[in-house]
Amino acid sequence: MYFSIEPKKSREDLYDRERELRKLHEAVENGRMVLLCGLRRIGKTSLLQVFLNETSNKIFHAFIDCRRLVRNNKIARDTFNATFLKSVRSAFKKGKLKDVLRSISKVKFGEFELDLSRENSDVDLFSYLDSVNEILTKHGKKMIIALDEAQNLRFYGRGGKDILNLFAYIYDHLNSIVVILTGSEIGLLHDFLKSNDPDTPLFGRYVNEISLGRFSKEKSMSFLSKGFQQIEIEIGKAEIEKAVATLDGIVGYLTMYGFTVYTRKEISTALGETEKMAQKLVKKEIEELRDRSENYLYILKAVAFGLDRFSKIKEYISLHHEKITDQTLSHNLSSLVKQSFLEQEYKRSSKIYVIPDPMVKATVLNMRKGS
Ligand SMILES: Nc1ncnc2c1ncn2[C@@H]1O[C@H](COP(=O)(O)OP(=O)(O)O)[C@@H](O)[C@H]1O
Ligand SMILES: [Mg+2]
Repeated sequence: MYFSIEPKKSREDLYDRERELRKLHEAVENGRMVLLCGLRRIGKTSLLQVFLNETSNKIFHAFIDCRRLVRNNKIARDTFNATFLKSVRSAFKKGKLKDVLRSISKVKFGEFELDLSRENSDVDLFSYLDSVNEILTKHGKKMIIALDEAQNLRFYGRGGKDILNLFAYIYDHLNSIVVILTGSEIGLLHDFLKSNDPDTPLFGRYVNEISLGRFSKEKSMSFLSKGFQQIEIEIGKAEIEKAVATLDGIVGYLTMYGFTVYTRKEISTALGETEKMAQKLVKKEIEELRDRSENYLYILKAVAFGLDRFSKIKEYISLHHEKITDQTLSHNLSSLVKQSFLEQEYKRSSKIYVIPDPMVKATVLNMRKGS
Protein backbone atom coordinates (compact mmCIF):
# COMPACT_ATOMS: atom_id res chain seq x y z
CA MET A 1 0.00 0.00 0.00
CA TYR A 2 1.15 3.52 -0.79
CA PHE A 3 0.46 4.91 2.67
CA SER A 4 2.73 2.69 4.73
CA ILE A 5 5.17 4.93 6.50
CA GLU A 6 8.48 3.07 6.30
CA PRO A 7 10.63 3.35 3.15
CA LYS A 8 9.10 1.15 0.47
CA LYS A 9 10.68 -2.12 -0.52
CA SER A 10 8.41 -3.55 -3.13
CA ARG A 11 7.45 -2.21 -6.50
CA GLU A 12 3.73 -2.49 -5.91
CA ASP A 13 3.94 -0.11 -2.95
CA LEU A 14 5.93 2.45 -4.89
CA TYR A 15 3.93 5.01 -6.80
CA ASP A 16 5.35 5.98 -10.20
CA ARG A 17 9.15 6.62 -10.35
CA GLU A 18 9.18 4.56 -13.56
CA ARG A 19 11.63 6.87 -15.24
CA GLU A 20 13.98 7.01 -12.29
CA LEU A 21 13.93 3.22 -11.91
CA ARG A 22 14.73 2.81 -15.58
CA LYS A 23 17.61 5.26 -15.27
CA LEU A 24 18.90 3.40 -12.26
CA HIS A 25 18.82 0.10 -14.13
CA GLU A 26 20.77 1.64 -17.00
CA ALA A 27 23.23 3.32 -14.68
CA VAL A 28 24.02 0.10 -12.83
CA GLU A 29 24.22 -1.88 -16.04
CA ASN A 30 26.63 0.48 -17.74
CA GLY A 31 28.32 2.47 -15.00
CA ARG A 32 30.39 2.09 -11.89
CA MET A 33 29.08 4.72 -9.57
CA VAL A 34 25.63 6.25 -9.17
CA LEU A 35 24.32 9.16 -7.12
CA LEU A 36 20.69 9.35 -6.12
CA CYS A 37 19.92 12.88 -4.99
CA GLY A 38 16.88 14.71 -3.73
CA LEU A 39 15.32 16.55 -0.83
CA ARG A 40 14.64 14.84 2.47
CA ARG A 41 11.51 12.67 2.27
CA ILE A 42 11.36 12.73 -1.52
CA GLY A 43 11.69 8.93 -1.78
CA LYS A 44 15.40 8.13 -2.31
CA THR A 45 15.63 5.24 0.12
CA SER A 46 12.37 3.82 -1.21
CA LEU A 47 13.52 3.97 -4.81
CA LEU A 48 16.85 2.44 -3.90
CA GLN A 49 15.35 -0.42 -1.90
CA VAL A 50 12.77 -1.22 -4.54
CA PHE A 51 15.53 -1.31 -7.11
CA LEU A 52 17.73 -3.57 -4.98
CA ASN A 53 14.81 -5.83 -4.34
CA GLU A 54 13.86 -5.95 -8.00
CA THR A 55 17.36 -6.95 -9.05
CA SER A 56 18.08 -9.31 -6.16
CA ASN A 57 17.75 -12.38 -8.36
CA LYS A 58 20.88 -11.43 -10.25
CA ILE A 59 22.79 -8.87 -8.20
CA PHE A 60 24.08 -9.16 -4.64
CA HIS A 61 23.57 -6.06 -2.59
CA ALA A 62 24.98 -4.56 0.54
CA PHE A 63 23.07 -1.69 2.11
CA ILE A 64 24.43 0.74 4.69
CA ASP A 65 22.60 3.65 6.29
CA CYS A 66 25.50 6.06 6.80
CA ARG A 67 23.62 8.15 9.35
CA ARG A 68 23.94 5.28 11.76
CA LEU A 69 27.72 5.34 11.58
CA VAL A 70 28.09 8.86 12.97
CA ARG A 71 28.83 9.55 16.64
CA ASN A 72 29.62 13.13 17.68
CA ASN A 73 30.37 14.21 14.12
CA LYS A 74 32.80 11.36 13.65
CA ILE A 75 32.81 7.97 12.04
CA ALA A 76 35.25 5.66 13.78
CA ARG A 77 37.31 3.45 11.53
CA ASP A 78 36.29 0.33 13.42
CA THR A 79 32.62 1.18 13.15
CA PHE A 80 32.87 1.76 9.43
CA ASN A 81 34.90 -1.36 8.77
CA ALA A 82 32.73 -3.60 10.90
CA THR A 83 29.50 -2.30 9.34
CA PHE A 84 30.92 -2.46 5.85
CA LEU A 85 32.14 -6.02 6.25
CA LYS A 86 28.96 -7.12 7.90
CA SER A 87 26.81 -5.77 5.12
CA VAL A 88 28.97 -7.22 2.35
CA ARG A 89 29.02 -10.53 4.15
CA SER A 90 25.27 -10.56 4.59
CA ALA A 91 24.85 -9.62 0.93
CA PHE A 92 26.05 -13.10 0.09
CA LYS A 93 23.68 -14.68 2.53
CA LYS A 94 20.38 -13.14 1.69
CA GLY A 95 18.09 -12.84 -1.25
CA LYS A 96 17.50 -15.11 -4.15
CA LEU A 97 21.20 -15.57 -4.76
CA LYS A 98 22.10 -17.15 -1.47
CA ASP A 99 22.56 -20.57 -3.04
CA VAL A 100 25.55 -19.20 -4.89
CA LEU A 101 27.11 -18.68 -1.48
CA ARG A 102 27.50 -22.38 -0.88
CA SER A 103 30.08 -22.54 -3.58
CA ILE A 104 31.83 -19.36 -2.58
CA SER A 105 31.73 -18.97 1.18
CA LYS A 106 35.14 -20.51 1.59
CA VAL A 107 37.26 -20.27 -1.47
CA LYS A 108 40.97 -20.50 -1.79
CA PHE A 109 42.68 -17.51 -3.28
CA GLY A 110 46.27 -17.99 -4.10
CA GLU A 111 48.09 -17.49 -0.85
CA PHE A 112 45.28 -17.18 1.63
CA GLU A 113 41.90 -18.52 2.34
CA LEU A 114 39.18 -15.95 2.51
CA ASP A 115 36.40 -16.69 4.87
CA LEU A 116 33.59 -14.45 3.75
CA SER A 117 31.50 -15.35 6.71
CA ARG A 118 33.98 -13.93 9.18
CA GLU A 119 33.50 -10.54 10.72
CA ASN A 120 36.73 -8.83 11.54
CA SER A 121 37.11 -5.09 11.49
CA ASP A 122 40.90 -5.38 11.24
CA VAL A 123 40.71 -6.83 7.79
CA ASP A 124 42.03 -4.65 4.99
CA LEU A 125 38.98 -3.58 3.02
CA PHE A 126 40.90 -3.23 -0.21
CA SER A 127 42.13 -6.80 -0.26
CA TYR A 128 38.82 -8.08 1.08
CA LEU A 129 36.99 -6.41 -1.80
CA ASP A 130 39.61 -7.68 -4.23
CA SER A 131 38.66 -11.18 -3.19
CA VAL A 132 34.96 -10.43 -3.30
CA ASN A 133 35.37 -9.04 -6.80
CA GLU A 134 37.31 -12.06 -7.89
CA ILE A 135 34.57 -14.41 -6.69
CA LEU A 136 31.86 -12.32 -8.33
CA THR A 137 33.69 -12.14 -11.63
CA LYS A 138 34.33 -15.85 -11.59
CA HIS A 139 30.61 -16.51 -11.16
CA GLY A 140 29.55 -13.82 -13.60
CA LYS A 141 27.78 -11.87 -10.84
CA LYS A 142 27.72 -8.29 -9.65
CA MET A 143 27.41 -6.66 -6.28
CA ILE A 144 25.95 -3.27 -5.47
CA ILE A 145 27.25 -1.49 -2.42
CA ALA A 146 24.56 1.03 -1.52
CA LEU A 147 25.40 3.80 0.93
CA ASP A 148 22.34 5.74 2.03
CA GLU A 149 22.80 9.40 3.05
CA ALA A 150 26.42 9.19 2.01
CA GLN A 151 27.29 12.84 2.73
CA ASN A 152 27.79 11.57 6.29
CA LEU A 153 30.91 9.74 5.15
CA ARG A 154 32.73 13.06 5.29
CA PHE A 155 32.87 12.46 9.04
CA TYR A 156 35.32 9.62 8.51
CA GLY A 157 38.92 10.75 9.13
CA ARG A 158 40.46 13.39 6.84
CA GLY A 159 37.08 14.46 5.42
CA GLY A 160 36.41 10.92 4.29
CA LYS A 161 39.44 10.80 2.01
CA ASP A 162 40.17 7.16 2.80
CA ILE A 163 36.66 6.26 1.76
CA LEU A 164 37.07 8.20 -1.47
CA ASN A 165 40.23 6.22 -2.08
CA LEU A 166 38.27 3.05 -1.56
CA PHE A 167 35.61 4.25 -4.04
CA ALA A 168 38.28 5.15 -6.58
CA TYR A 169 39.86 1.74 -6.13
CA ILE A 170 36.52 0.01 -6.68
CA TYR A 171 35.90 2.21 -9.70
CA ASP A 172 39.25 1.51 -11.29
CA HIS A 173 39.85 -2.12 -10.44
CA LEU A 174 36.79 -3.96 -9.22
CA ASN A 175 34.59 -4.36 -12.26
CA SER A 176 31.96 -6.49 -10.62
CA ILE A 177 31.17 -3.97 -7.88
CA VAL A 178 28.94 -0.94 -8.39
CA VAL A 179 28.56 1.78 -5.77
CA ILE A 180 25.27 3.64 -5.30
CA LEU A 181 25.18 6.66 -3.01
CA THR A 182 22.15 8.63 -1.94
CA GLY A 183 22.12 12.09 -0.40
CA SER A 184 19.61 14.61 0.91
CA GLU A 185 22.25 17.24 1.48
CA ILE A 186 23.25 17.42 -2.12
CA GLY A 187 25.87 20.14 -1.91
CA LEU A 188 27.56 18.39 0.98
CA LEU A 189 27.60 15.15 -0.96
CA HIS A 190 29.22 16.88 -3.94
CA ASP A 191 31.72 18.56 -1.66
CA PHE A 192 32.59 15.22 -0.16
CA LEU A 193 33.03 13.48 -3.50
CA LYS A 194 34.86 16.40 -5.16
CA SER A 195 34.99 14.52 -8.45
CA ASN A 196 35.81 17.77 -10.27
CA ASP A 197 38.87 18.51 -8.21
CA PRO A 198 42.11 17.21 -9.78
CA ASP A 199 43.70 16.73 -6.36
CA THR A 200 41.14 14.23 -5.16
CA PRO A 201 40.76 10.46 -5.60
CA LEU A 202 37.58 10.48 -7.68
CA PHE A 203 38.73 13.11 -10.15
CA GLY A 204 37.87 12.22 -13.73
CA ARG A 205 35.61 9.30 -12.83
CA TYR A 206 32.17 9.45 -14.32
CA VAL A 207 29.49 9.49 -11.68
CA ASN A 208 25.95 9.04 -12.95
CA GLU A 209 23.62 11.36 -11.08
CA ILE A 210 19.90 10.71 -10.86
CA SER A 211 17.76 13.39 -9.23
CA LEU A 212 14.46 12.68 -7.61
CA GLY A 213 12.02 15.54 -7.84
CA ARG A 214 8.72 16.31 -6.22
CA PHE A 215 5.54 15.04 -7.86
CA SER A 216 3.59 17.45 -10.04
CA LYS A 217 0.21 18.58 -8.75
CA GLU A 218 -1.54 16.02 -10.96
CA LYS A 219 0.70 13.19 -9.84
CA SER A 220 0.36 14.16 -6.19
CA MET A 221 -3.42 14.11 -6.52
CA SER A 222 -3.41 10.80 -8.31
CA PHE A 223 -1.03 9.37 -5.67
CA LEU A 224 -3.48 10.32 -2.92
CA SER A 225 -6.57 9.16 -4.84
CA LYS A 226 -5.05 5.77 -5.61
CA GLY A 227 -3.71 5.42 -2.08
CA PHE A 228 -7.15 6.06 -0.63
CA GLN A 229 -8.68 3.59 -3.07
CA GLN A 230 -6.23 0.96 -1.84
CA ILE A 231 -7.38 1.40 1.75
CA GLU A 232 -11.00 1.82 0.68
CA ILE A 233 -11.53 5.26 2.10
CA GLU A 234 -13.71 7.68 0.21
CA ILE A 235 -12.44 11.21 0.17
CA GLY A 236 -13.57 14.30 -1.73
CA LYS A 237 -11.52 15.97 -4.43
CA ALA A 238 -11.51 19.21 -2.44
CA GLU A 239 -9.80 17.53 0.53
CA ILE A 240 -7.16 16.06 -1.74
CA GLU A 241 -6.57 19.40 -3.41
CA LYS A 242 -6.17 21.09 -0.05
CA ALA A 243 -3.66 18.49 1.10
CA VAL A 244 -1.60 18.85 -2.07
CA ALA A 245 -1.69 22.65 -1.85
CA THR A 246 -0.33 22.48 1.70
CA LEU A 247 2.13 19.60 1.44
CA ASP A 248 3.21 20.10 -2.15
CA GLY A 249 4.51 17.14 -4.15
CA ILE A 250 6.83 15.83 -1.45
CA VAL A 251 5.82 12.21 -1.28
CA GLY A 252 6.91 11.74 2.33
CA TYR A 253 4.38 14.33 3.54
CA LEU A 254 1.65 13.03 1.26
CA THR A 255 2.24 9.55 2.64
CA MET A 256 2.08 10.90 6.18
CA TYR A 257 -1.26 12.48 5.37
CA GLY A 258 -2.68 9.26 3.91
CA PHE A 259 -1.35 7.31 6.87
CA THR A 260 -2.97 9.75 9.31
CA VAL A 261 -6.36 9.40 7.66
CA TYR A 262 -5.90 5.63 7.62
CA THR A 263 -5.05 5.33 11.30
CA ARG A 264 -7.33 8.01 12.73
CA LYS A 265 -10.25 7.44 10.35
CA GLU A 266 -10.99 11.17 10.53
CA ILE A 267 -10.57 13.23 7.43
CA SER A 268 -11.45 16.67 8.75
CA THR A 269 -8.54 16.88 11.20
CA ALA A 270 -5.99 14.81 9.28
CA LEU A 271 -4.29 17.61 7.40
CA GLY A 272 -3.77 19.67 10.55
CA GLU A 273 -2.35 16.65 12.32
CA THR A 274 -0.06 15.87 9.43
CA GLU A 275 1.27 19.41 9.48
CA LYS A 276 1.94 19.13 13.20
CA MET A 277 3.76 15.83 12.80
CA ALA A 278 5.77 17.06 9.85
CA GLN A 279 6.75 20.24 11.68
CA LYS A 280 7.86 18.28 14.71
CA LEU A 281 10.16 16.27 12.48
CA VAL A 282 11.50 19.34 10.69
CA LYS A 283 11.97 21.21 13.96
CA LYS A 284 14.50 18.63 15.07
CA GLU A 285 16.49 19.20 11.89
CA ILE A 286 16.38 22.96 12.35
CA GLU A 287 17.44 22.64 15.98
CA GLU A 288 20.54 20.84 14.75
CA LEU A 289 21.32 23.79 12.50
CA ARG A 290 20.68 26.18 15.34
CA ASP A 291 23.13 24.34 17.56
CA ARG A 292 25.79 25.42 15.07
CA SER A 293 24.59 28.98 14.68
CA GLU A 294 21.46 30.94 15.48
CA ASN A 295 21.98 32.78 12.17
CA TYR A 296 20.57 29.81 10.29
CA LEU A 297 17.16 30.19 11.85
CA TYR A 298 17.07 33.94 11.14
CA ILE A 299 18.08 33.41 7.54
CA LEU A 300 15.36 30.82 7.03
CA LYS A 301 12.84 33.10 8.75
CA ALA A 302 13.76 36.00 6.50
CA VAL A 303 13.36 33.87 3.39
CA ALA A 304 10.09 32.43 4.71
CA PHE A 305 8.81 36.00 5.09
CA GLY A 306 9.64 36.61 1.44
CA LEU A 307 12.87 38.56 2.05
CA ASP A 308 14.64 36.55 -0.56
CA ARG A 309 17.61 38.74 -1.58
CA PHE A 310 20.98 38.92 0.12
CA SER A 311 20.59 42.54 1.19
CA LYS A 312 17.09 41.97 2.59
CA ILE A 313 18.18 38.91 4.53
CA LYS A 314 21.09 40.86 5.94
CA GLU A 315 18.82 43.69 6.99
CA TYR A 316 16.41 41.30 8.67
CA ILE A 317 19.14 39.60 10.69
CA SER A 318 20.73 42.87 11.78
CA LEU A 319 17.35 44.11 12.93
CA HIS A 320 16.10 40.99 14.72
CA HIS A 321 19.24 39.23 15.84
CA GLU A 322 22.64 40.84 15.52
CA LYS A 323 24.93 42.48 12.99
CA ILE A 324 26.26 40.06 10.44
CA THR A 325 29.10 40.59 7.97
CA ASP A 326 28.68 39.91 4.26
CA GLN A 327 31.25 37.18 4.54
CA THR A 328 29.48 35.34 7.35
CA LEU A 329 26.12 35.69 5.66
CA SER A 330 27.39 34.32 2.37
CA HIS A 331 29.04 31.50 4.18
CA ASN A 332 25.83 30.68 6.08
CA LEU A 333 23.71 30.93 2.94
CA SER A 334 25.95 28.64 0.99
CA SER A 335 25.88 26.15 3.84
CA LEU A 336 22.06 26.16 3.87
CA VAL A 337 22.03 25.63 0.10
CA LYS A 338 24.46 22.73 0.43
CA GLN A 339 22.22 21.11 2.99
CA SER A 340 19.20 21.69 0.72
CA PHE A 341 17.34 23.85 3.23
CA LEU A 342 17.52 26.62 0.64
CA GLU A 343 17.72 26.76 -3.12
CA GLN A 344 19.05 29.57 -5.29
CA GLU A 345 17.08 30.96 -8.17
CA TYR A 346 17.26 33.97 -10.41
CA LYS A 347 14.47 36.52 -10.55
CA ARG A 348 14.88 39.24 -13.14
CA SER A 349 18.58 38.39 -13.24
CA SER A 350 19.15 38.86 -9.53
CA LYS A 351 19.85 35.99 -7.21
CA ILE A 352 17.11 35.00 -4.78
CA TYR A 353 16.73 32.25 -2.20
CA VAL A 354 13.74 29.98 -1.76
CA ILE A 355 12.79 27.31 0.75
CA PRO A 356 12.02 24.20 -1.30
CA ASP A 357 10.18 22.36 1.47
CA PRO A 358 6.81 23.86 2.53
CA MET A 359 7.03 22.27 5.98
CA VAL A 360 10.43 23.85 6.61
CA LYS A 361 8.89 27.18 5.76
CA ALA A 362 5.90 26.63 8.06
CA THR A 363 8.14 25.40 10.88
CA VAL A 364 10.52 28.36 10.89
CA LEU A 365 7.61 30.78 10.81
CA ASN A 366 6.32 29.14 13.99
CA MET A 367 9.67 29.10 15.78
CA ARG A 368 10.58 31.87 18.14
CA LYS A 369 13.77 32.94 19.76
CA GLY A 370 14.60 30.47 22.51
CA SER A 371 11.78 28.10 21.54
N1 LIG B 1 7.14 6.51 -4.84
C1 LIG B 1 6.60 6.35 -3.64
N2 LIG B 1 5.36 5.80 -3.49
C2 LIG B 1 4.82 5.65 -2.27
N3 LIG B 1 5.40 6.07 -1.12
C3 LIG B 1 6.62 6.62 -1.21
C4 LIG B 1 7.28 6.79 -2.46
N4 LIG B 1 8.48 7.34 -2.23
C5 LIG B 1 8.56 7.53 -0.90
N5 LIG B 1 7.45 7.11 -0.27
C6 LIG B 1 7.17 7.25 1.18
O1 LIG B 1 7.59 8.58 1.55
C7 LIG B 1 8.31 8.58 2.77
C8 LIG B 1 9.73 9.09 2.55
O2 LIG B 1 10.40 8.19 1.69
P1 LIG B 1 11.95 7.84 1.82
O3 LIG B 1 12.22 6.82 0.79
O4 LIG B 1 12.29 7.53 3.22
O5 LIG B 1 12.58 9.26 1.39
P2 LIG B 1 14.08 9.78 1.50
O6 LIG B 1 14.95 8.59 1.57
O7 LIG B 1 14.29 10.59 0.26
O8 LIG B 1 14.13 10.64 2.73
C9 LIG B 1 8.21 7.16 3.31
O9 LIG B 1 7.07 7.11 4.14
C10 LIG B 1 7.97 6.31 2.06
O10 LIG B 1 7.24 5.15 2.36
MG1 LIG C 1 16.26 8.06 3.06
